[in-house]
Amino acid sequence: MEHIEEFKAPPKVTSLTQLVDELHRVFSCDRVNVDYVKRLMEGYVSNPEDWRKYAKRDKFKYTRNLVDSGNGRFDIMLLCWPESIASTIHDHTDAHCFMKVLQGELQEIRYKWPTDETPNNGMEELGRTRLPLNGVCYINDSLGLHRVENPSHSERAVSLHVYVPPFTTCQAFDQRTGRTQKCRVTFWSKYGKRITYQPSMDNSAPPDVHTIQYNCPLEKTCGERPRLTRQHEAIQE
Ligand SMILES: [Fe+2]
Repeated sequence: MEHIEEFKAPPKVTSLTQLVDELHRVFSCDRVNVDYVKRLMEGYVSNPEDWRKYAKRDKFKYTRNLVDSGNGRFDIMLLCWPESIASTIHDHTDAHCFMKVLQGELQEIRYKWPTDETPNNGMEELGRTRLPLNGVCYINDSLGLHRVENPSHSERAVSLHVYVPPFTTCQAFDQRTGRTQKCRVTFWSKYGKRITYQPSMDNSAPPDVHTIQYNCPLEKTCGERPRLTRQHEAIQE
């Protein structure tokens, strides 16, 4: 297949289905044209009618909902963010990560990889980007690490993520010390259907990313404890 994407604008996609189809075409080869994919995703104007069926939420943690498994070459997923919820700082296991806001607003905080000198002042922040509705950002491990958060105390948020290639584990980082912990990333639903959580019987398996209890920066601004491990009832939508 000839790679001519660099020389032309991506097609205008008017639905999530069209976007998924175009991503299948783009990722049918091994090379990833980051700028092309970013522009393609920016061109899609979020329509809740397209993605509502995938938006399975939880009151107290963000959820990862698989939309398409990209023939094993990439994953497309919807993340649903309750108010004032942040992810841990994490890497992306050598994958490309594209993220688009479909509802509300998100903030990305980027960090340097920790070094032996990190513990004194905590991990070094590289910058903060406010992502508005339909905004797209991109990261891979060579650009650093990040935390994603919904800064709103009153509005939920939804984002669309594309990971190339897919990954099932990543590293979570303690902001204060730079210490890392390998963790599993799991799905809350697949293709619009809720998944029954199956705890691993293998004691040596890494913990789920949602059980990592590093301190949450939003605690400082909203006065609430991090809520990532509370018992809860799922909200089915
Ligand atoms: Fe990420």
